[in-house]
Amino acid sequence: MKGKFFELVHRDGLARIAHLSTRHGVLETPAVLPVINPNLRVISASEMKAMGAGGIITNSYIIRRNPDLREKAEKNGVHSLVGYDGPIMTDSGTFQSYVYGDMEYGNREIVDFQRAIGSDIVTILDIFSRPDFTRNEAEDAVRITYERVREIEPVEDSFLAGPIQGSLYMDLRMRSSRLMGNSAADYLPIGGVVPLLEQYRYPELVRIIWSARRSGNMGKPVHLFGGGHPMFFALAVYLGVDMFDSASYVKYARDSRLLFPEGTRDLKKIRELPAWSPICSKTTAKELIQMEEKERTYLLAKHNLFAMFQELSEIKERIYEQNLWEYVQEKAMAHPTLYTAFREIISMQRGIEPFTELSRRSAYFHYGKESGRSLFEQRVKTFSEAFLSAKKEVVVIDGDHRPAARKARLVDQYESSDAAFVFPWCGIHVPVELEDTYPIQQIIGYDSGTGSDSWLKSVVKRHGLRRIEEPDSGQKIRDFNLEKIRVISDYQFGIGSGKHLFPDDTEIRVSRSTGRIRTASSEGSISATLRATDGTLGLTLTGAARLKKFAVYPQLSVVVSDESANYNRKGYSVFFKFIEVYDPEIRAGNETMILNREGTLIAAGRSTVSGKEMGDYRHGVAVKIHHSLEGRNDDLAPD
Ligand code: GUN
Repeated sequence: MKGKFFELVHRDGLARIAHLSTRHGVLETPAVLPVINPNLRVISASEMKAMGAGGIITNSYIIRRNPDLREKAEKNGVHSLVGYDGPIMTDSGTFQSYVYGDMEYGNREIVDFQRAIGSDIVTILDIFSRPDFTRNEAEDAVRITYERVREIEPVEDSFLAGPIQGSLYMDLRMRSSRLMGNSAADYLPIGGVVPLLEQYRYPELVRIIWSARRSGNMGKPVHLFGGGHPMFFALAVYLGVDMFDSASYVKYARDSRLLFPEGTRDLKKIRELPAWSPICSKTTAKELIQMEEKERTYLLAKHNLFAMFQELSEIKERIYEQNLWEYVQEKAMAHPTLYTAFREIISMQRGIEPFTELSRRSAYFHYGKESGRSLFEQRVKTFSEAFLSAKKEVVVIDGDHRPAARKARLVDQYESSDAAFVFPWCGIHVPVELEDTYPIQQIIGYDSGTGSDSWLKSVVKRHGLRRIEEPDSGQKIRDFNLEKIRVISDYQFGIGSGKHLFPDDTEIRVSRSTGRIRTASSEGSISATLRATDGTLGLTLTGAARLKKFAVYPQLSVVVSDESANYNRKGYSVFFKFIEVYDPEIRAGNETMILNREGTLIAAGRSTVSGKEMGDYRHGVAVKIHHSLEGRNDDLAPD
């Protein structure tokens, strides 16, 4: 066994596909752990596995208080008891004590018991912080839960779940998350939320998840305790939830209700079973109603479980494609409470922005005004205003500005003027130099080409700009392509970087067929290439060395241990655990310089995560190197 660890595999902002490695195998997240009650089994664990469950959750309190179950578990382990050989999480009985009010075991006792029966994820006896708690009660729940995690010694063969409590007090949720993030707990469930989930109070849930996620340790898995309705999964995963558990698949089945990725339906009211349902080919809605209760519950539970797995596969695919944000927008329309929760997420975009990649694999969808507050549009807006603020004059380009259609006259005008040339985009005006860069070019949206004069007018006024209607063509004072890569550099690496990276003698090679920029060189060596897919720059070592002169240490860099440097200079990736210093402002997917302890540049690569997360991960690759002193010098030529 390689030991327990949590490793990032793919990401899309805060959402991630990761591997949670346990003694009983690797669980790929995001995942839902179906609840198995050892007393009442509706679906067997082996059937669950066959349906695609990567892990299950059961309750150690229920096992312990039943002499027969306890004996079997102590003798042969919990895996044998429930008949499941994959990863098993055990809960502590906190929830039962919340529902029934009694709890005869102490924290250590129940943790020791979970460990003794071989659980892979062991939960402390936390305090369930109900939504109606007073502030004092919620504070006590946070404090006592933290004291309880501190009573427990970490062990190597199981994860320790330390729940984040705090009721509806967001500052307490943040405090709890910080405390747990820095504690020996290496698995972070968000607790006390079942009543909110049951009442579809998604806007509050969204705030709780964000409070927990933004202040916690980004390298630890996050679980939403009881988060069992698939209609909310996408929003939760978007905010960084990795795991859910669900007893709802049985609860809804007992009430003759069917879960769907968009909501719930009553068996009595439906005529059609969906084709994707595992029970569709076996029975009809009519037959189900007439069926004996036990059989009906079994079949509906299967359907409900499948609805969850189905939704999670879609979400995973969206993470691979990096368009979960678009899916969240789709989901928002499924129910007004989800829409309200979505609007809460919109209000968090500024906070989420630093965790978001420089560009994504997928096109960016613009739906209208509401999208304008999304982080990608906000990012462009902030840059555009900063860009304009340094100019004296502005020219608004009407019509098609793209290379194929660009009239030579426009380039002439551009090159004989020092004005900002902007074009309308999603209700603002953006620098023409960014025409190929994500998401400006990679956008889909029927009104994405419309600007808003009111935005431009306010910027013009704020920064004392002069608007020119028809600039003259005259003597050439600048080169469009050179300015273009300079502005892209400013967007990617910070304002002012472009001039350092691309001095006046820079030679630019363009594609003969498309006219697009391919490489930039100076003094005979290539410093950067422009990626065709997202219009961002890739740096060679020459380029990185120039950037280093501009950057203030450790800006745009990671500093690695001596041991690691020996590998990285040969072109091997940088692993998280060898990073000693890093720039907290690094953007995921952006070019990053790799420095040794002396501060010498040894390689250039692209970060897999943002600087906000860099220090939290322990396993996996932090920077993928493409150019290095003694090894790889991948051809960065655009695809
Ligand atoms: N199950 C549902 N909510 C909770 C919670 O807050 N704590 C624990 N331990 N289990 C739960």
